[in-house]
Amino acid sequence: MNSATGTSFAKIILIGEHAVVYGQPAIALPVPTIHLTAALTPRGDAAQLIHTSYFTGALSDSIATDFAGIASLVTALLAHFDAANQGFELTIQSQLPAERGMGSSAATATAIIRAFYAAFATPLDRPTLLKWAAVSEKAIHGNPSGLDAATTSASVPQWFVRGQAPTPIAFPAAGSLVIADTGLLGQTKRAVAAVAALREAQPAQCSAHLTAIGAAVRQVALGLAQSDLPSLGAALDTAQAELAALGVSAPALDRLIQAAKGAGALGAKLTGSGQGGCMIALAATPAAAARIEAALQAAGATQTWRHDFAESEDPA
Ligand code: PMV
Repeated sequence: MNSATGTSFAKIILIGEHAVVYGQPAIALPVPTIHLTAALTPRGDAAQLIHTSYFTGALSDSIATDFAGIASLVTALLAHFDAANQGFELTIQSQLPAERGMGSSAATATAIIRAFYAAFATPLDRPTLLKWAAVSEKAIHGNPSGLDAATTSASVPQWFVRGQAPTPIAFPAAGSLVIADTGLLGQTKRAVAAVAALREAQPAQCSAHLTAIGAAVRQVALGLAQSDLPSLGAALDTAQAELAALGVSAPALDRLIQAAKGAGALGAKLTGSGQGGCMIALAATPAAAARIEAALQAAGATQTWRHDFAESEDPA
């Protein structure tokens, strides 16, 4: 093992969360200004030490902690590289708030996998990276679509359908997203389980909501291709109504969404699993984005970010 680092980005689901678990498409974008680094350093002894903001200690002591899902990935990577007894320090430095729908767990996994492959001087292709990320995502979320890992490991926006290779999707030069954190935990596992329970109890209604989200995703794809921001915004609003009907919004999200709309957002919705976490609002211009950001802060957002579509490089 050599010393090595791996990096990854925060992700924002523009549209399609929850429905993507059941085969509908989704569109998500990496936010390179919010990033995460995993640094791996070999030790002379057999100690295997982890340093993160939410767990510090020996890998073997992390089993009953929030780090357990990631620990199972690290253990599997060590076995893969025939290094189960190799001593190391693994330090994660993250700008992503945890459990807020920004893909913190997938970003952590992505950076760690990259660090391990670099430390063992082994080339890593995208399908292999995504297969490894599924190890911890499955342990943490139960039934992940793979969208988070596909986006936190990408450098440009992605069109994603479960079970298929993600493909880049072009964004227009104009338009900005304002991202705001409610400060409440997003609870991906619980939210995904709530939709699964609804699907069990009311299959027809649930299926209608998921299909409507899929239609809104296609409207957004068209809006992106035609630089039609009002149509894109309307589709975000539709998705939010459907997500609320699925039971994954929350009063804190609804309050921020209303504040954004009141400040002129073209559309606004929760992003990620919901029941807490973050929301996004679409602004036509940087000036409009600044007004919306101020309104979100006044309405109680604990943190806000801006992402101009111009920052999403052309995938061509
Ligand atoms: O809250 P996050 O960032 O983990 O996003 C979850 C997205 C879901 O569609 C709700 C679940 C999934 O696996 O795609």
